[in-house]
Amino acid sequence: MIKTWYVGVVVAAVFLIVAACGGGETSAPAHDDGSLTDAGRELFTSQGCAACHTAGGVGADVGPSLDGLFGTQRELASGETVTADAGYIMESIKTPAVKVTKGFPEGLMPPFDQLSSNEVHQLVHFIESLK
Ligand code: HEC
Repeated sequence: MIKTWYVGVVVAAVFLIVAACGGGETSAPAHDDGSLTDAGRELFTSQGCAACHTAGGVGADVGPSLDGLFGTQRELASGETVTADAGYIMESIKTPAVKVTKGFPEGLMPPFDQLSSNEVHQLVHFIESLK
């Protein structure tokens, strides 16, 4: 009897520890999302994107406004229509001349291919937050 009681306590203790750790892990990604967006916002200023684009109501209108861009359909100069998803935005940052937004001049936006994929990822998070 004593042994059975002991096993029960150990099992309960292990269960509580696992549950506590699990709870800690689920809150981590939410924190990461916020910091990726913040890092992207800083890059948007430090890389000079704001000299040509409006984001959060501020910036210039040399290029298309990025407010509300994420997830919408974009018409390209080629006549194609694409969805402005993460892949399209990454491509637009690294190689803007591949898909030129209709109504805007090709070659005006320099390719930001010197950015690390991590930095591009942060910019995409920031642009996604401008919905
Ligand atoms: C010298 C001006 C200029 C700078 C600097 C610039 N862009 Fe652009 N950008 C443009 C123009 C013009 C277009 C539209 C023509 C094209 O697609 O190349 C564009 C297109 C885009 C698009 C596609 C938008 C759409 O409506 O489909 C995204 C996303 C974008 N830029 C993000 C950025 C980011 C992020 C930066 C900074 C790392 C940046 N741009 C810096 C001028 C600029």
